[in-house]
Amino acid sequence: MPIIAPSLLSANYLQLQHDCDMLNASQADWYHLDVMDGRFVPNISFGPMLIEFFRKATTKVCDVHLMIEEPEKYAEAFKKAGADILTVHYEACRHLHRNIQQIKALGMQAGVALNPHTPVELLKDILADIDMVLIMSVNPGFGGQSFIPQTLNKIKALRSMINEQGLNVKIEIDGGVTLENAQLIIDAGADVLVAGNTVFKSANPFETIAKLKAL
Ligand code: DX5
Ligand code: ZN
Repeated sequence: MPIIAPSLLSANYLQLQHDCDMLNASQADWYHLDVMDGRFVPNISFGPMLIEFFRKATTKVCDVHLMIEEPEKYAEAFKKAGADILTVHYEACRHLHRNIQQIKALGMQAGVALNPHTPVELLKDILADIDMVLIMSVNPGFGGQSFIPQTLNKIKALRSMINEQGLNVKIEIDGGVTLENAQLIIDAGADVLVAGNTVFKSANPFETIAKLKAL
């Protein structure tokens, strides 16, 4: 059974309490929270302040995806805001190992995200130090884009690397996940499915989450 992590980027911000209540009652496992700085990605979303509100609204895991430059400047603020998992982008970290050490020292699980053009092989020497790899299956910055098919090969290659090293590292897929392609993504070796538009723009988000969870 996959871990389901609805992305609140696609929620309705005029009725957040309603959307949180729905998620809390649903089979969603994690809240996926997308932080964008307008520099690493061409969009701006929200920061620690809003995450603090989400932390109070749920007991589910807060899975924070940082699409920001210099994430080391903000790791502590996200810990204080209530993040359980903090994921930084490979492409935003000149000293990735140091970033990972910082996140773990703060008591959070550490994830590394890869843009569509970044090969999974680049993680070979850091894989044993992290809890999760987030493979972007669209270019980061916006919800509602189409899944890039090459992602399936990346998932398979990463799954083999993880197995070869005998590790327990989760693979999270983010971007363009639908009820139609989710099974293929799971079969390729993914553990966690992020879904924004597929959940929140569906007629019945609660049911859509149940359908994803049942795959
Ligand atoms: C995009 C974000 C995603 C986004 C996914 O940069 O990282 O989490 O919300 O949205 P969908 O599922 O609509 O592609
Ligand atoms: Zn995300």
